[in-house]
Amino acid sequence: MSLFNLAVLISGSGTNLQAVIDAVENDAVPNAKVALVISNRIGVYGLERAKKHGISNVVIEKNDTKLLLDTLNSYKINGIVLAGYLSILPPEVVEAYNNKIINIHPALLPKFGGKGFYGIRVHQAVLESGDTVSGATAHLVDNGIDTGKILIQKEVPVLPDDTAESLQKRVLEAEHIILVEAVKIMCQRDGSPDKVSIEPSP
Ligand code: GRF
Repeated sequence: MSLFNLAVLISGSGTNLQAVIDAVENDAVPNAKVALVISNRIGVYGLERAKKHGISNVVIEKNDTKLLLDTLNSYKINGIVLAGYLSILPPEVVEAYNNKIINIHPALLPKFGGKGFYGIRVHQAVLESGDTVSGATAHLVDNGIDTGKILIQKEVPVLPDDTAESLQKRVLEAEHIILVEAVKIMCQRDGSPDKVSIEPSP
């Protein structure tokens, strides 16, 4: 299997990035390398995580299509992971990496997805809905917002005394597990993974 160079795009703390870094370092994704971390925000902790692991990292604040594509090409990137990246990728990037871009979303899509559904807002909406199950979704990225083909989902219970923060914490744990699984499949199949599984709530 040829080496699969990953670019991980972030906007914040980077716990999903850390899950991918740890999985690669522990050989859980044998042919993968986290070759580049791109942040669209300066000074976020995710960049510190990249530095700690000797991973090249850059900040590209604006949605500069040419700069993004040139940067990805210069690192010979094979696939992209959106790990808490709070910006919409330009269509040219989505096209250049068709079926080779995975996003992690903190809800059971197609519910609680789309414009405005990000961060703590998602969990507030789940609590307001009265749903007793929430979870995480790893999906391919297309030119919609959270509309790409679902690859893996993991359910978690919504507890009666949950706050948006406590639910967010539980969902984040599920995100780390399924993101690594989705990345593993993308790397092993050298792109275009099929729908894999829905893991029920424990
Ligand atoms: C995650 O919940 C992700 O699903 C959402 O933003 C959060 C980022 O968390 N899009 P982190 O930066 O990976 O810790």
